[in-house]
Amino acid sequence: MYRFILILIVCHVQTAIAAEIIKFTATIFNKSTATNDSIFLMVEVANCSSPCSCLIQKNKTGISTPVKFSPSTNATTTGSVTLENLQPYTVYSLEMNCSQVTNIGTLVVRTDVFRPSPPRDFEVQLNGHHLELKWKPPSIPHGPINDYRVTIDGIEIKPPLNNNALFYRMDKNYILGTTNKISIIACNIDTQERILCSNSKGSETSYFNTNNSTNPNISATKSSLTNSIMLNTLPNGSVLIQQISLVTILLMKLLVIIY
Ligand SMILES: *[C@@H]1O[C@H](CO)[C@@H](O)[C@H](O)[C@H]1NC(C)=O
Ligand SMILES: *[C@@H]1O[C@H](CO)[C@@H](O)[C@H](O)[C@H]1NC(C)=O
Ligand SMILES: *[C@@H]1O[C@H](CO)[C@@H](O)[C@H](O)[C@H]1NC(C)=O
Ligand SMILES: *[C@@H]1O[C@H](CO)[C@@H](O)[C@H](O)[C@H]1NC(C)=O
Ligand SMILES: *[C@@H]1O[C@H](CO)[C@@H](O)[C@H](O)[C@H]1NC(C)=O
Ligand SMILES: *[C@@H]1O[C@H](CO)[C@@H](O)[C@H](O)[C@H]1NC(C)=O
Ligand SMILES: *[C@@H]1O[C@H](CO)[C@@H](O)[C@H](O)[C@H]1NC(C)=O
Ligand SMILES: *[C@@H]1O[C@H](CO)[C@@H](O)[C@H](O)[C@H]1NC(C)=O
Ligand SMILES: *[C@@H]1O[C@H](CO)[C@@H](O)[C@H](O)[C@H]1NC(C)=O
Repeated sequence: MYRFILILIVCHVQTAIAAEIIKFTATIFNKSTATNDSIFLMVEVANCSSPCSCLIQKNKTGISTPVKFSPSTNATTTGSVTLENLQPYTVYSLEMNCSQVTNIGTLVVRTDVFRPSPPRDFEVQLNGHHLELKWKPPSIPHGPINDYRVTIDGIEIKPPLNNNALFYRMDKNYILGTTNKISIIACNIDTQERILCSNSKGSETSYFNTNNSTNPNISATKSSLTNSIMLNTLPNGSVLIQQISLVTILLMKLLVIIY
């Protein structure tokens, strides 16, 4: 009876001494992997009292996800956690809290980019003989927007337009009476170098125009130009005619006087 109690006391003392020596450490590996909607973290703990228990909290929301530790026979144990249902291209501040210590580590990670929504308010107008495209940035960019890409009748215009472009004028002349299918897409490029573009159906239009009076083709423009030049010369011409007629009247009057 007395012996048994003694052993128990000894055991207790031993653990107490061990607890003083053991230096508990936990590390969130820098090498976290982020997708557009999840973050995978690796955690390493040393000297944790079994069972190891760590929680990862995102943005102090109060909702924590436990780290899963693989069984280990030595002092170092690795674990992992995947945080899901996250928003693309969003910064998350992750806080690790282990049973032994609080506020053990934080890591700021941004989720990967994703497909943006289509550019807004896409408009095509004929100005002279060139089609002009106008648009506004996507309402849900899901990233920094890498570039904009214009496609006309299935042929993409190269190179893509830079990410702050909101206007484009077609190089080729618009041919009256033809239908041009024009679309503009916004694209992001993710960490795996995948090009993720908006759905072209959301910003596609068919342009058709036959009105030669509003939108003349090259020769029509030339002729209207000639017309305006002629119109400009006409008033001067009429002044000249008036002057000529005045001279003529004077001359005639002179002739009348002479005769
Ligand atoms: C684990 O604890 C031992 C003492 O028991 C200590 O020497 C060692 O540094 C600790 N390991 C880590 C990674 O903290
Ligand atoms: C984590 O990254 C920081 C800076 O990016 C670096 O100073 C530190 O050494 C890295 N730690 C590990 C364990 O890789
Ligand atoms: C993340 O990307 C996958 C495809 O890679 C997609 O199915 C999923 O909807 C995306 N998540 C979000 C939140 O957009
Ligand atoms: C502890 O385990 C890790 C992997 O589980 C291994 O890399 C390491 O060498 C082990 N250390 C010892 C002292 O056994
Ligand atoms: C999380 O916190 C960071 C700053 O720590 C902030 O920039 C980010 O927008 C927050 N994310 C969410 C989803 O609230
Ligand atoms: C850490 O977790 C414990 C429970 O495991 C909780 O009581 C404590 O508030 C947490 N601390 C932080 C900073 O999240
Ligand atoms: C312009 O339209 C008129 C009728 O509106 C037509 O008679 C004429 O041929 C057209 N010219 C061209 C170049 O299409
Ligand atoms: C052509 O343009 C003129 C000038 O803007 C306009 O008055 C006319 O209604 C247009 N005709 C058609 C068929 O659109
Ligand atoms: C331009 O208009 C003229 C008539 O004014 C017509 O003969 C010609 O085919 C038109 N050119 C184009 C490219 O539409």
